[in-house]
Amino acid sequence: MEEKKIRIALTKGRLEKKTLTLLEQAGYDVHELRENTRRLIFSLPGSNVELVLAKAADVITYVEHGACDMGVVGKDTIMEQGGSYYEVMDLGFGRCRFALAGKTGQDFYQGYHTRKIATKYPNVAKSYFSSRQMDVQTIKIEGSVELTPLLGLADAIVDIVETGSTLRENGLCVYEDIAPVSARLIVNIASMKMKQELVQPILRQLQEQLEDERGK
Ligand code: PRP
Repeated sequence: MEEKKIRIALTKGRLEKKTLTLLEQAGYDVHELRENTRRLIFSLPGSNVELVLAKAADVITYVEHGACDMGVVGKDTIMEQGGSYYEVMDLGFGRCRFALAGKTGQDFYQGYHTRKIATKYPNVAKSYFSSRQMDVQTIKIEGSVELTPLLGLADAIVDIVETGSTLRENGLCVYEDIAPVSARLIVNIASMKMKQELVQPILRQLQEQLEDERGK
């Protein structure tokens, strides 16, 4: 009989290194992923874990559809994309926040016109403004959203702020904080039940590792 495997999707880029460090500290051999390679799937030696590298939004899609049993993805993508899966753990890294930001010295709330909000996260922006009973027009941008108030395309942006340097260096500032963001562990709903003998030990290992880190 074929050995049961657990497939974990990792978000490429910003969260990748810290996820690998966490897995390594939890006892997994991830050295192959540290080599510069274009490979996308890795079987971790001495374990039943397979790692898949994907873009954040795709991590959710793979976990939702059961192509992967678990995933590591930012709360920003979770808030934007939604979906059906268990969000089981805050991994504590990749900390930043969603904020409403715009030109320094400008009063965002002055006047009655419908505000234009540029963002990579239209659902997050819409739900933030609807919770404040404000009608806004959202404009979807794919990157460097900070450009839009400078080019006169938007009154403000809803975006991720980590160090705040991108805002500062472009004459922008935070008007309001919207929500904290960090990396989360998500689990496919069926895998949680059907593969619990494999999923639970991984959750325990990671939890213990995070508690060790916090205790230091
Ligand atoms: C994110 C975000 C901001 C920047 C914030 O963009 O959209 O532009 O990081 O970081 P800071 O507060 O530390 O300056 P990212 O680097 O992911 O690039 P992108 O805008 O091209 O998607």
